[in-house]
Amino acid sequence: MNPKGLLNKPDSLSVIESIYKISLGLKDNSSLIPQIIEDLKRVLNSAHKNQTSIKTVNYIERFSSKGQFKSKLWLIQKLKKIEFFELGQVFLCAGWCGTLAYLLFQEKTLKVKQIFNFDKDPLSITISEDLNRKWVKENWKFKATLKDILDLNYHSAQFNTLKKDGSSQELFVSPDTIINTSCEHIENFTNWWKKIPKGKKMILQSNNFYEDPEHINCVSSLKHFKNQAPLSQILFKGELNLGKYSRFMLIGNK
Ligand SMILES: C[S@@+](CC[C@H](N)C(=O)[O-])C[C@H]1O[C@@H](n2cnc3c(N)ncnc32)[C@H](O)[C@@H]1O
Repeated sequence: MNPKGLLNKPDSLSVIESIYKISLGLKDNSSLIPQIIEDLKRVLNSAHKNQTSIKTVNYIERFSSKGQFKSKLWLIQKLKKIEFFELGQVFLCAGWCGTLAYLLFQEKTLKVKQIFNFDKDPLSITISEDLNRKWVKENWKFKATLKDILDLNYHSAQFNTLKKDGSSQELFVSPDTIINTSCEHIENFTNWWKKIPKGKKMILQSNNFYEDPEHINCVSSLKHFKNQAPLSQILFKGELNLGKYSRFMLIGNK
């Protein structure tokens, strides 16, 4: 794929490879592929305008990896099996490029009201909004905000988010569900955990891939993860073997 000649050959090849990997991951949901190609074209168009093409292609390569995609589809598969679980107002903490939001929006049974992605990496904010453009346009059903997740109030958050014209808007939101599939990346995880009120619905993933230097908060086992993020009620707990490492998941109420 080389939308409007935006990329040089090696870059366009790696995007084609990424789409191929995504299509393998989505084998039961392959009708989504044409849409994903359209959405990635938009992400690349925007990256070209912002002169971030090379970094964006690298992000696409990373988020389309087998482990990343499988982990998100696993989350959705398990969530769908939990009776009466409504996502409502979602805070996607350290939600990176917003691929989980993108996949959750395809699932009508999960009752998503709105998803706010908070990440401290500016490029992730741009990519996640480009990828989820359809829902950004739908009265901010998806909205990304540049923010350290340790600086949020999880009872009732007050934060400023950027509008399309670059001006800022203050929002007050009380989340129903807090998702963090990047727990292995969170410095001062305990401080973040303490900020979350008891009773909040939580969906968490971490892993034991200690080799990655960005993984500063890995856990060695599901038991370790349960101790790090103690829940008063567990609705799902499990481990997904991804070959080189395992991903752990906890769903429940704090
Ligand atoms: C490489 S990505 C996540 C991969 C992950 N396995 C997933 O769920 O897709 C990790 C993200 O966490 C973000 N992050 C780490 N600490 C953060 C913090 N304190 N506040 C906001 N974002 C944070 C990084 O900016 C990055 O976008």
